[in-house]
Amino acid sequence: MTQHRETHPSHGGGHAHDHGPGHAHHGHSHGHDTELDWGRLAPLLESQAEVAGAAYREAAAWLGTLVPASGVRRLLDVGSGPGVITAVLAEAFPYAEAVAVDGTPELLERARARAEAQGLGARVATLRAELPEETGSLGEADLLWAGNSLHHIGDQGAALADFAKLIRPGGLVALVEGGLAPRHLPRDIGIGRPGLEARLDAEHADWFARMRAELPGSTREPDDWRALFVAAGLTPAGTRTFLVDVPAPVPQVVRELAVSHFERLREGLGEHVGAEDRATLDRLLDPADEQSLHHRTDLFHLTAHTVHTARKG
Ligand SMILES: C[S@@+](CC[C@H](N)C(=O)[O-])C[C@H]1O[C@@H](n2cnc3c(N)ncnc32)[C@H](O)[C@@H]1O
Repeated sequence: MTQHRETHPSHGGGHAHDHGPGHAHHGHSHGHDTELDWGRLAPLLESQAEVAGAAYREAAAWLGTLVPASGVRRLLDVGSGPGVITAVLAEAFPYAEAVAVDGTPELLERARARAEAQGLGARVATLRAELPEETGSLGEADLLWAGNSLHHIGDQGAALADFAKLIRPGGLVALVEGGLAPRHLPRDIGIGRPGLEARLDAEHADWFARMRAELPGSTREPDDWRALFVAAGLTPAGTRTFLVDVPAPVPQVVRELAVSHFERLREGLGEHVGAEDRATLDRLLDPADEQSLHHRTDLFHLTAHTVHTARKG
């Protein structure tokens, strides 16, 4: 049993984050604005995944139509973060040992606590591993899920080929990649220039390209997931997108998520956006401002996660 096994005692985390740029990793930053502190991101990762819970449950149920649940005895959630989705997968595949794999111990601690709290402690294990170096130590699996984690590895094609080696015959790989960037505000919010989030998305796309370029062993390949599957010796088995749609008026937890999201954008992209948009961000984040995210009635949360699947042999 791999429970609590630690494979990498010294290194504290991954390299960057797709949910947006922000504070540099104080552990091993090389002065790039793309290295992040995953442990610090724990609450944001956790509530983002919780708010998307229904979408992930739907995705897991779809996987159950592609691979029989009774045949899934071991599943790996690679780059699990705080394990919200590991628990969803464990529920959907009741015969499986579900292993949350991540490079960040704080996140794995959360994954463990969540599994215990949900009564899944006996079936959920955590495994600390730094990818791609330690992929070979993850062990075999009937299902390997990598949720917004493959793009944190410099050579995605090579990493996928390594993942494929872990899959038992008839097993499945599921990648969450792409989808739609989250939106929280209408086009015109009554302050600043309309279209703020579209401009922030464009800045984020540039940040993301820098983040990938600065990863160790970075290669630039188109994000053609089906082609990458085929190159890794896998057979594409379908792609679906799952909507996360929380309309206004939002519950407090979603309001807090939006505040964290915009705080991170201001912190990470602040220098790259124009003065007018920076001023708008400041107002949106000022709790004393009636137009801020803390008080707005037009706030929503809309995003979509795309799941790409492929089968082995
Ligand atoms: C964007 S988060 C995704 C978390 C979760 N799968 C989800 O979809 O909500 C990426 C996760 O990958 C982990 N990670 C990033 N680079 C890694 C690496 N090189 N080795 C191991 N884990 C890594 C981070 O610690 C983080 O938990």
